[in-house]
Amino acid sequence: MYKISEKPLITAQQIQLRVKELAAQISEEFEFDVFLSALTGAYMFTADLSRAIGNSNQEIAFIKASSYGNSTESCGKLMVSGLEKLDLRGKRVLLVDDILDTGNTMYSLVEMLRETGTAEIRTCVLLNKPARRLVDHNANYVGFEIANEFVVGYGLDYAEKYRTLPEIWTLHET
Ligand code: IMP
Ligand code: MG
Repeated sequence: MYKISEKPLITAQQIQLRVKELAAQISEEFEFDVFLSALTGAYMFTADLSRAIGNSNQEIAFIKASSYGNSTESCGKLMVSGLEKLDLRGKRVLLVDDILDTGNTMYSLVEMLRETGTAEIRTCVLLNKPARRLVDHNANYVGFEIANEFVVGYGLDYAEKYRTLPEIWTLHET
């Protein structure tokens, strides 16, 4: 059984402030064509980040990447759908995900995107858990570094729950 923390780890206000900072930094450093968002976890972050960047020339596209079942441990193998329908040849892509944990998801997605002929790929994650990294991948843009704890809210789930909360919370085993 799992229980949610009593207080948020990161408040909605802290998130919104950091999203604005990231948006300003990305706008200044990276001219790109497409937001490519990894569902479902990145949906809220992508919505806020894309609004904060607010460039009407940019497209938005979604892929579904899943490696987690209904547990807090990754099962390792990444399943990706939706990529086959996109034409990213020659495009500069900002790949957005909720969290960089073992790094498998981002690493595999970047490899797959390279094969589709993208012009340039940069990665952006709201959260980074460096302690859990298994593959050599670091995101270009990171919202917050966090400790090795399982977190939910602001798009992140445990067994599909907690995604709609506007803050980030930690889950504790009871
Ligand atoms: P990675 O492939 O191990 O880096 O894991 C990335 C994916 O696992 C993320 O896109 C999340 O969907 C999920 N994940 C990793 N850590 C957490 C967590 O603390 N809470 C919720 N989901 C997580
Ligand atoms: Mg995810």
